[in-house]
Amino acid sequence: MSDGSQIDYNGLIPNNVGLAEDLRVRKALETWHPGYVDWWKRMGPEGFQNSPVYLRTAVGVGSEGWAKFDFVRMPDYRWGVLLAPAIEGRTIPFGAHKGEPAWQEVPGEYRAMLRRLLVIQGDTEPASVEQQRHLGATAPSLYDLRNLFQVNVEEGRHLWAMVYLLQKYFGRDGREEAEELLKRRSGDEDSPRMLGAFNERTPDWLSFFMFTFFTDRDGKMQLASLAQSGFDPLSRTCRFMLTEEAHHMFVGETGVQRVIQRTAEAMKAAGIDDPYDIARVRALGVIDLPTIQKKANLHFSLTLDLFGNEISTNAANAFNAGLKGRYQEDKLTDDHQLTSSTYPLLRLRDGAIVHEDVPALSALNMRLRDDYVKDAAVGVGRWNRVLAQAGISFRITLPHVAFNRSIGEFAAVHADTQGRILPADQWEADRETMLPTSGDSQFIASLMQPVRERGSYASWIAPPRVGVDNRPGDFEYVKIEA
Ligand SMILES: [Fe+2]
Ligand SMILES: [Fe+2]
Repeated sequence: MSDGSQIDYNGLIPNNVGLAEDLRVRKALETWHPGYVDWWKRMGPEGFQNSPVYLRTAVGVGSEGWAKFDFVRMPDYRWGVLLAPAIEGRTIPFGAHKGEPAWQEVPGEYRAMLRRLLVIQGDTEPASVEQQRHLGATAPSLYDLRNLFQVNVEEGRHLWAMVYLLQKYFGRDGREEAEELLKRRSGDEDSPRMLGAFNERTPDWLSFFMFTFFTDRDGKMQLASLAQSGFDPLSRTCRFMLTEEAHHMFVGETGVQRVIQRTAEAMKAAGIDDPYDIARVRALGVIDLPTIQKKANLHFSLTLDLFGNEISTNAANAFNAGLKGRYQEDKLTDDHQLTSSTYPLLRLRDGAIVHEDVPALSALNMRLRDDYVKDAAVGVGRWNRVLAQAGISFRITLPHVAFNRSIGEFAAVHADTQGRILPADQWEADRETMLPTSGDSQFIASLMQPVRERGSYASWIAPPRVGVDNRPGDFEYVKIEA
């Protein structure tokens, strides 16, 4: 069986898992393939399906240069099954089985738990493609249009990644789950995607950038914890997915950064010092900073809900079982079993937000969420450098974790962005200062006019510093057919 760093592109399904010799799984995937392509055509990007797009495709899974760039029509993209190379002698890094050889087959006692983890992760991948499908019509440039489609085809591949594991290791149940993954729909009343943030709308490009910055980053954290898994095929799958995920985070971070930069430049050129002089800023055809802050508040709080409840026995069980570790588990220096340690948590006690030490095993969701917040804050810091360099006093901040929550203990209260608990009517009265209003959304929508000339950008966003694959500024990233 092949586990090399080269990928076999000869068959219908590119792979480095030896599908050519694995008839059973190859047949299952080939049976699933037409339904996937059908889903892509119906629920993937609206329009542009016949336009050659300058996309990267993985040609190897090694750390050195795995991508080849070329013009591809999206339905012809070579979605495949790619695992990072096996690590000789790998052992289970944490939990009750710590130190035992990593599993190459599903441990029977944890079968249901593992399947559930795969299905939940798998469900998010097509969901985001569905959420973003209409954005091509309003792309601010060919560069951004191409980045959107790159993210979309890779989320499609992430679905393949989870479907491979389901079909290879879960037999009939796995095949049924794989079918269901193509049936649920983001935002559908009867058959929604499994997690809340993946049923929200992504109405405009600022939302897209915020989503890839905040919500894809949740994906990164989940994949990073699953990459630690004692179930080795899952670990290897997620390690490769993380290399793709890094690009999604880049698209989000630089996207918002370019919006902020353009706003800062326009304010300076017009001699506007007060970021709250919103009408004047908007008249310049750029997005005012308070509205950008409100969008960040919204996407951050929606994403925090994805981390689940503060106290979670599911998370403790998955850790104990050796299936899902902590972020960078392999770099941590404790006992990796957490049988006697505690973790400091923010909790709601008698209507107040307080710190409390709880058993570390029960707080794994919050530990991951705290790691997430730190990771996101680094990117926000880079946004703020743009403002500092422009001499503008405004700074983007992350709201308090209790703000605008629907899951977990803080769902019961109305906390403002500073974490102050307000009476419900007060919170409602202040809402328009914390979350985007319909007026804000209408203004942003009014800016969403497509720009399709090579090297041109919409008024509200700065060009990128460098092109994709070092291509020049006027490169035609998407060849749009009339
Ligand atoms: Fe993904
Ligand atoms: Fe992603």
